[in-house]
Amino acid sequence: MSGLFITLEGPEGAGKSTNREYLAEHLRAQGLDVVLTREPGGTPLAERIRELLLAPSDEKMDADTELLLVFAARAQHLAEVIRPALARGAVVLCDRFTDATYAYQGGGRGLSLARIATLENFVQGDLRPDLTLVFDLPVEIGLSRAAARGRLDRFEQEGQAFFEAVRQAYLARAQAAPQQYRLIDAALPLAQVQQSLDALLPQILERCRG
Ligand SMILES: Nc1ncnc2c1ncn2[C@@H]1O[C@H](COP(=O)(O)OP(=O)(O)OP(=O)(O)O)[C@@H](O)[C@H]1O
Ligand SMILES: [Mg+2]
Repeated sequence: MSGLFITLEGPEGAGKSTNREYLAEHLRAQGLDVVLTREPGGTPLAERIRELLLAPSDEKMDADTELLLVFAARAQHLAEVIRPALARGAVVLCDRFTDATYAYQGGGRGLSLARIATLENFVQGDLRPDLTLVFDLPVEIGLSRAAARGRLDRFEQEGQAFFEAVRQAYLARAQAAPQQYRLIDAALPLAQVQQSLDALLPQILERCRG
């Protein structure tokens, strides 16, 4: 038995967490075993690494340090949560995964995509998401939604150009592998975003049962 690995991607304020709950409710109503998790984090140790990654600090974090911390947290998360859940046949809904590394550390920080791919292979072997939902929206809208929540984390303190690069990296990945990605217009009102998720549910259920 092997489950279904679904990741939710997109910048701050795109609605990943909100819509992850919405999807989980609908999938659970169908009797599926659904595991909700997030990155960076998802286990106590990985959440401690998340704190290191998000905390604003006087010492500037080297981009390679950032990249390695992201993958260190991911190794723990895979071992403790994601692989066991998939092995028992669960649907894993993960808020951010390696696409976020390509978008933030690749697009945003400008690190080599080939290097990220090397670490991806090292940490994940051949495990890749079955389906990735990319919540796409103009940078200003996402930032204003995130800012409304209060204190900005280390990434949220980046400027417009950083988030523009993040957005373009997500779009490029979605366009390069349309069978894995579904692009969702996250600038629409929530009710409409949820309608686009409703339209995806039959495909998701079919994959769960297939
Ligand atoms: N389509 C939408 N229209 C308007 N507001 C929205 C929409 N989707 C989410 N929001 C609101 O925007 C805020 C951010 O949403 P959410 O926390 O789900 O985003 P996120 O992608 O998880 O962000 P982060 O990456 O920062 O965790 C929340 O207050 C949420 O209620
Ligand atoms: Mg969130």
